[in-house]
Amino acid sequence: MTTENMATDDEETDSLVTTDPGAGGLSENDDRGAAMTADTIIESRDLDVFYGETQALQNIDLAIPENQVTAMIGPSGCGKSTFLRCINRMNDLIDICRVDGELTFNGKNVYDEDVDPVALRRRIGMVFQHPNPFPKSIYDNVAYGLRTQDKTENMDEVIEESLKKAALWDEVKDRLDKSALDLSGGQQQRLCIARAIAVDPEVVLMDEPASALDPIATSQIEDLIEELAAEYTVVIVTHNMQQAARISDKTAVFLTGGELVEFDDTNKIFENPESDRVEDYITGKFG
Ligand SMILES: Nc1ncnc2c1ncn2[C@@H]1O[C@H](COP(=O)(O)OP(=O)(O)OP(=O)(O)O)[C@@H](O)[C@H]1O
Ligand SMILES: [Mg+2]
Repeated sequence: MTTENMATDDEETDSLVTTDPGAGGLSENDDRGAAMTADTIIESRDLDVFYGETQALQNIDLAIPENQVTAMIGPSGCGKSTFLRCINRMNDLIDICRVDGELTFNGKNVYDEDVDPVALRRRIGMVFQHPNPFPKSIYDNVAYGLRTQDKTENMDEVIEESLKKAALWDEVKDRLDKSALDLSGGQQQRLCIARAIAVDPEVVLMDEPASALDPIATSQIEDLIEELAAEYTVVIVTHNMQQAARISDKTAVFLTGGELVEFDDTNKIFENPESDRVEDYITGKFG
C-alpha cells in the first residue's frame, strides 16, 4: 500500500461519528479498554438480534482479532450472516431488525447514536455471496468508492494495486474499459474484492464469497483471503468446513437458535472441540 494513496492517520480515525469528531476517537470512548486484548478489533458483548418477534442471535460474546482470518460456520439459519451484518450495520437496512447489546470496532460501540454507518462501512467493507459488480467498466467498478470518497489522486495506481492484490490484474489489465459484467463469476468476485479493498478498509467481511464458484476460482479466492490477512482483518462466513479449516486462524461455531457455541483457534475447533455439539456438527452428524 503506498502511503500517498492512503488517508493519513488523522483522516483514518476521522470519524465514525456524525457530531463532535473530537469525542469520536475510536479508542478514547472505550470504557472497557482494559478488558480487550491488544489485538482485538471487533468485539460483541451480549449481542441479541431480532427480526420482529424472532430472535436470530442470542447473547453473542465474541472478540475478533486484528489482521487474522476469522471464520463463522454453522447450519443454515443459525445467524451467521446476521452477525456479519451487525458488524458494519448492514442490518440497519432491514426495517424489522433490532439489535441489542454492544458491538465495538476499535473500542467504539458502532451502535452509539453518534456513529455514522456510512463512515463505518468505509472502514469495514463487505463482499457478498453472489458477485455484484456494477454495470460499469472494470475500471469504474474499482474507482467507484474512491470517487465517492474524493480519493481520486493517483487513482490509476490505486486501481492497479487493488486489482493486483485481488489477483485479477493480469487477467484484466488490457481491458479495463470493458464491462465488468463480461467477466466470469470468479473474476467478478475478485473484482468485488478489489472494489472493497481499493478504499483501504480495515476489515473485510465476506459472506460465503466462494460458494458460487468452481474449485479453481474458489482456490484463488482462498489464497487471496490468506494474503489479505497480512493487511486486513477478514471475517468470512462459509459452509465449507475444509475452507474454514484451511484459511482461518479462528473459528466461531454458531448453532441453531442463534447461539454461539464455541469460538477458538481453528485447529482446536477442528481437532479437539470442547463441545459435543460442535464435534457432531463438524463431523457431519447433523446440520
Ligand atoms: N431480512 C430478514 N427478515 C426476517 N428474518 C430474517 C431476515 N434475515 C434473516 N432472518 C432470520 O434470521 C435467522 C438467521 O438468518 P441468517 O441469514 O443470519 O442465517 P445464516 O446462518 O446466514 O444462514 P445461511 O447459512 O442459510 O445463509 C433465520 O431464522 C432467518 O430466517
Ligand atoms: Mg447467510
